[in-house]
Amino acid sequence: MTSGALLEVADLVKHFPQGGGLFRSPRVVHALNGLSLTVAPKETLALVGESGSGKTTAGRALLRLLDPDAGTVRFDGVDVLAADRKTLKGLRRRMQIVFQDPYGSLDPRMTVGASVAEGIEIHRLAQGPEIRARVERLLGEVGLEPAAADKYPHQFSGGQRQRIGIARALAVDPEFVVLDEPVSALDVSVQAQVLNLLLDLQRDRGLSYLFIAHDLAVVRQMAHRIAVMYYGRIVEQGSRDDVLERPRHPYTRALLSAVPEPDPETQRVRIVLPGDPPSPTTPPPGCPFASRCYHSARDRRCDTERPELRSVGATLVACHHAETA
Ligand SMILES: Nc1ncnc2c1ncn2[C@@H]1O[C@H](COP(=O)(O)OP(=O)(O)OP(=O)(O)O)[C@@H](O)[C@H]1O
Ligand SMILES: [Mg+2]
Repeated sequence: MTSGALLEVADLVKHFPQGGGLFRSPRVVHALNGLSLTVAPKETLALVGESGSGKTTAGRALLRLLDPDAGTVRFDGVDVLAADRKTLKGLRRRMQIVFQDPYGSLDPRMTVGASVAEGIEIHRLAQGPEIRARVERLLGEVGLEPAAADKYPHQFSGGQRQRIGIARALAVDPEFVVLDEPVSALDVSVQAQVLNLLLDLQRDRGLSYLFIAHDLAVVRQMAHRIAVMYYGRIVEQGSRDDVLERPRHPYTRALLSAVPEPDPETQRVRIVLPGDPPSPTTPPPGCPFASRCYHSARDRRCDTERPELRSVGATLVACHHAETA
């Protein structure tokens, strides 16, 4: 694994038991099936994949907001999953999350000031009037007036609420932030403003981001590296340009074909994926993408042998046919 990484995640597994009863054993949702990734200081790694691929589970598991079944997470050398309460409290200050839903993620009964101050108080980062001063500074940093501190979440628009969520995450001076689809719920016109804010904050504060997104369009502006997720694993990973310009996994190609091309001269042919992803409760023996892939029609190995993530050119790809352009 890359040395010098701030965050190192290896072989993370998370299965959710589902249903079951007196006479039926529960079925198991395979949300994470051996996820590995690293994030370097000041870097943005984008984690991209369609709904249900396990992105949110990954973000929450690596922050230990839910307990993974197997795997390791190291943050600045500290074993996150084995950390005792005191160590975990320290890690919680350094690792933060911004949630997708700006409407559900703020307590409607708390003033914005109280929401933003919460972490400052828990971690005793300021006392007395210093807390209010710090809250106002944070609100300014995310583009809101100091008076916002005395209002309630319902008095703000979606974009403003997401700014409040960002201020809340930054209140404890973290080094690393999971951004779980931070602009997906916002109008397109507001998305760009929030993305620019996140870029400015990264530059000013030297932040590392795990930027979760379901499409590749927003990722171009944000990511240094891109990891494409399918069925609870990374299927392709590399620098932004390598993944966007020279995608090798058929799933990445399909995702990219859905991104509107800024230059109409270079229209791409949109690949519409046939079929559905495999059932999350019954993992297929071979490549999880085989049921939707043009390679699998010609190669039985796709249905029987799961491809490992391996180096192909400058990227990592989990496909038996990664060399086939
Ligand atoms: N608490 C839970 N209990 C049972 N199953 C869950 C739970 N959380 C997630 N899952 C399942 O795990 C899989 C991965 O879900 P996850 O929310 O991580 O996907 P995602 O990539 O974030 O999707 P989206 O783009 O819709 O946010 C899905 O099949 C989901 O139904
Ligand atoms: Mg999600």
